[in-house]
Amino acid sequence: MSKPHVFLVGPMGVGKSTIGRLLASELGLPFVDTDRVIEERTGADIPWIFDMEGEEGFRLRETNVLSDLCQMRAAVIATGGGIVTQEANIELMRNHGSVCYLRASLEQLAERTARDKKRPLLQVENPREKIAQILMEREPSYTSVANFTVNTDRHGPKAAVQEILQQLG
Ligand code: S3P
Repeated sequence: MSKPHVFLVGPMGVGKSTIGRLLASELGLPFVDTDRVIEERTGADIPWIFDMEGEEGFRLRETNVLSDLCQMRAAVIATGGGIVTQEANIELMRNHGSVCYLRASLEQLAERTARDKKRPLLQVENPREKIAQILMEREPSYTSVANFTVNTDRHGPKAAVQEILQQLG
């Protein structure tokens, strides 16, 4: 049987892609980012998908991509921050591998996503307030789907990867 996937979940700006890439190379697994696969399949970027199809359309595409990736060979999968908003996605991740919740403080997330133009949900007057609201809504789901949590506030990506490797055992 192939090795199960490692899913990275957590809010926008926490570092899922950076950490995921490093982790994948340590584990000798391919790295996949659900947002990039959605863009490749659609032939358009995420802001375009939100504009044309709304968040609902994006979420359908996201679940399709996640479901397909679960059937493919084991990989480190960085997910979009809203992956936990759909119960189907939570089930898929629980059934197909280990889930790591990458956590960071509101301060760090606001700093890392400042002046971001690629994330439709943050194109609002007060992005920091929006991040706070999103965190409040999603934190219980991140925590409950995760097999373990790694805090990225105090350490760089390399230290986070070491902690994940330890947790995976
Ligand atoms: C979203 C997060 C984004 C992307 C989309 C929606 C969210 O991914 O999927 O803009 O709902 O939090 P990142 O977490 O990789 O930025």
